[in-house]
Amino acid sequence: MEGVSMKGDRALRVAVLVSGGGTNLQALLDRQAAGTLAAEIVVVAADRSDAFGLVRAERAGVPAHVVDYAHYLKSPFDELPPLPSGVDLEALDARQRILETTDRARRLERLKRLVLAEEALINALEEYRPDVVCLAGFMRLVSPHFIKHFNREGRRRILNIHPALLPAFPGQHGYEDTFAYGCKWGGITVHFVDEGEDTGPIIAQAVYPLWPGDSVDDVRRRGLELEYLVYAQCLNWLAAGEIRLEKDEEPSGRLRAMITDPRYRTILEEWAAKAFS
Ligand code: GRF
Repeated sequence: MEGVSMKGDRALRVAVLVSGGGTNLQALLDRQAAGTLAAEIVVVAADRSDAFGLVRAERAGVPAHVVDYAHYLKSPFDELPPLPSGVDLEALDARQRILETTDRARRLERLKRLVLAEEALINALEEYRPDVVCLAGFMRLVSPHFIKHFNREGRRRILNIHPALLPAFPGQHGYEDTFAYGCKWGGITVHFVDEGEDTGPIIAQAVYPLWPGDSVDDVRRRGLELEYLVYAQCLNWLAAGEIRLEKDEEPSGRLRAMITDPRYRTILEEWAAKAFS
């Protein structure tokens, strides 16, 4: 029995966002089919039409949508539609921590493009009324527009899976970075998404050893096996109300996620055993 604690809770309605192969999506679909996931994947969306995750969704009978981000990010700026009414670009810019250019005009243009893509994505997803949005190899940063839409009623509803032990190695090359630094342990992280890149409250992490002679592919394979376990478990914890957010004291003032599942220690032991198997 893999380390997934479930408790028969109401299934969360989950939207999964992908950009590529979608093996995390597949792992969630498989657990849903096996009845070990307290979640129903109600829609899959991708930012590009060639994402293989779309095929996985269709094979599983899950509606799949494409929002062509390249169109919004690359079309001539003056050909783009206006922002939806009520969207205050300046206010979004003040909150976002993903666009680093100090050139304000360029930043606002880029933000507008992103918000337009996100608006199309929100419209596609909302048809299926998801409770939660899971980024699973979705190679796009999300703006405060997207976050504000889904984090309604004071609830965090956007999760991401990251291929490193955050806050080490944010960005897109977690396994390559872990390998290149000669790390002796690697890790994976599931976290809530906030306005920065890979900076949101950490829900769960698992670690694995790197052995002499490992290739980067060995490292990725070992890490991915853990990703599948941990992402499913985090959804089950979310469905069961087993994730509590606490605000840390100043000076950090950060939100910290605590797992209240009494099986927490056993589950971590199972993850550790898996990492050595
Ligand atoms: C995973 O390593 C995940 O951590 C990262 O992107 C990769 C996606 O892989 N965010 P897949 O598309 O699920 O196979």
